[in-house]
Amino acid sequence: MLEVSTHNSSSPRFALSKCLFLVTCMLVGSSPPEDPIRCTASNNLSNCTITNAYGAFPDRSTCQAADVVYPTTEEELVSIVALATKKKRKMKVATRFSHSIPKLVCPDGEQGLLISTKYLNHTLQINEASRTMKVESGVTLKQLIEEASKVGLALPYVPYWWGLTIGGIMGTGAHGSTLWGKGSSVHDYVVQLRIVTPAGHADGYAKVRTLDDHNQFQFNAAKVSLGVLGVISEVTLKLEPVFKRSITYLEKNDSDLAEQVNKFGKQHEFADLIWYPSQRKTIYRMDDRVPSDTPGNAWLDFPGFRSTSSAALAVLRLLEDADEATADADAKCISAKLTTSALKLLGYGFTNKGTGFTGFPIVGYHNRLQASGSCLDSPENALITACPWDNRIKSLFFHQTTFRIGLSKVNNFVRDVQKLVDLAPKSLCGIEMYNGILMRYVTSSSAYLGQEEDAVDFDITYYRSKNPLKPRLYEDILEEIEQLGVFKYGGLPHWGKNRNVAFHKAINKYEKAAEFIKVKEMYDPQGLFSSEWSDQVLGLKDGLMTFKEGCALEGLCICSRDSHCAPDKGYLCQQGKVYKDAKVCALATS
Ligand SMILES: Cc1cc2nc3c(=O)[nH]c(=O)nc-3n(C[C@H](O)[C@H](O)[C@H](O)COP(=O)(O)OP(=O)(O)OC[C@H]3O[C@@H](n4cnc5c(N)ncnc54)[C@H](O)[C@@H]3O)c2cc1C
Ligand SMILES: *[C@@H]1O[C@H](CO)[C@@H](O)[C@H](O)[C@H]1NC(C)=O
Ligand SMILES: *[C@@H]1O[C@H](CO)[C@@H](O)[C@H](O)[C@H]1NC(C)=O
Ligand SMILES: *[C@@H]1O[C@H](CO)[C@@H](O)[C@H](O)[C@H]1NC(C)=O
Repeated sequence: MLEVSTHNSSSPRFALSKCLFLVTCMLVGSSPPEDPIRCTASNNLSNCTITNAYGAFPDRSTCQAADVVYPTTEEELVSIVALATKKKRKMKVATRFSHSIPKLVCPDGEQGLLISTKYLNHTLQINEASRTMKVESGVTLKQLIEEASKVGLALPYVPYWWGLTIGGIMGTGAHGSTLWGKGSSVHDYVVQLRIVTPAGHADGYAKVRTLDDHNQFQFNAAKVSLGVLGVISEVTLKLEPVFKRSITYLEKNDSDLAEQVNKFGKQHEFADLIWYPSQRKTIYRMDDRVPSDTPGNAWLDFPGFRSTSSAALAVLRLLEDADEATADADAKCISAKLTTSALKLLGYGFTNKGTGFTGFPIVGYHNRLQASGSCLDSPENALITACPWDNRIKSLFFHQTTFRIGLSKVNNFVRDVQKLVDLAPKSLCGIEMYNGILMRYVTSSSAYLGQEEDAVDFDITYYRSKNPLKPRLYEDILEEIEQLGVFKYGGLPHWGKNRNVAFHKAINKYEKAAEFIKVKEMYDPQGLFSSEWSDQVLGLKDGLMTFKEGCALEGLCICSRDSHCAPDKGYLCQQGKVYKDAKVCALATS
């Protein structure tokens, strides 16, 4: 199994895992992520392409747009949408960083218009008495947290990465982790929003709509909109007074994980779990509010979101490529152990007094612990360090499969994954190199495309080859987990992550999908904010799965023939090992 054989502190593998997760080999001089929109015309506003922060959509297509505009006010936004509506142009809202994996930001065809919220990044109003904050939609989570904390307010549950914009968070239903209060999703703390939609001639071709509980039907659609309803210009959030938290990570074997998972979420307000299935370990995050006079002023700077040396990233990727090429599962398991123990040594990025990690419990103000992302703050400079996934350099390149399984079924899902690990003990070392499976608690929402029931969100990150026709190590196990999650257990995919397979018939799992479509048709009857991709995801068009050579390897299809896998490399389309209805690409001998 997982004996870590002959590593010592001078081996290159060890040095590298230190480099990724320890600051020791970091250098000065780094760059913030590149703008995802690039235009070749001399004015930098025409002949554009757009991609995501990783530089690759699931199908690796490049998206074109004729023009990009950067409105700075809602008024400008209205005239932009009006003009484009008059001309029947396709439009899409894009953000400064474009952090979603699926092709949500691509307008159809090559004549589309990108409307960037890059300069819609101002806080408009903070009302301390009503504890509300009104911001423009391009404001990042980092700005939101910082501005709110200046007047002693906070959003309780947010994504862990602060580079997301409020518009993008709402676009995809992004969340933190809790089963408490009003729940885990940022959109459930939105009390009002303003959205600019197309309109007819009589209304001047564009309309600003103010939505709140007075027009719930439309409000529930706009809370999670996949960007197909129009451009959200302003968002008002309900906050609460800032408070302190105390965090302790407890490591246990995963023998009773299936029994513990539900209970644990009810015991701690900010609970989450990190699961290392091949190491058969789980890290329980015991995280609760404490009285504000509890001593401590801790800070979070998660190592995976820090600026990392480009040289180290390149070598890490080389090692990973080499382990994949030689199918060296043992090497991956060693890397996984080194990575996870380095992370543990670093206290998962928590520092007690700004000086380093000296042990749990970690106590501090919520706003300093709830999210991080220091790699975004780098000054414009040479590319000596970058975010670990920066595609301008040789860096980490991965898929993310993320789905939410209802609390009543989650224990059986965990057991099924454990059965797979029993059959192939080293199969999930590869995901442990990306810090394992992050399990977060998410709550039901009134948003039509929000969460249906209280659930556990499983976030799984794994190797992606630059060559789309190359199967990854334990391809079959990873595909089976994906199909177990979204088909056998009916998991709902995160709209901002995932490969295409996860969206297959996903819309049918939403009881209120038809309501969403009604609002879409009312706001944008011509579908100017829609694309072929968004129509496919919403079940309005076929063709979400594309069947071609090797398609299953990238999650573009579920295999039904060997050619959808990689028969020349011995990978054939076979049934799952635990979930017999799964169809996965497996080595003929396995
Ligand atoms: C490192 C990293 C960590 C992450 N961590 C988490 C996490 O902890 N929890 C979680 O839930 N998710 C997480 N995510 C996923 C992330 O929340 C989503 O991908 C999110 O949608 C990205 O926001 P963005 O601002 O980059 O928007 P984009 O990806 O650019 O846009 C997303 C969608 O929203 C639409 N949109 C954006 N702005 C507007 C607007 N103003 N009006 C109308 N539509 C708009 C876009 O058109 C698009 O359809 C993470 C992603 C990364 C890269
Ligand atoms: C855009 O590119 C096309 C060819 O690719 C070129 O003919 C056209 O002049 C370009 N437009 C601008 C505004 O640069
Ligand atoms: C808004 O974004 C622009 C461009 O990224 C930046 O220069 C500016 O400082 C930001 N404004 C605020 C208030 O953060
Ligand atoms: C897991 O830990 C429990 C105690 O918490 C122990 O009883 C059990 O034997 C352990 N299982 C394994 C496989 O080590």
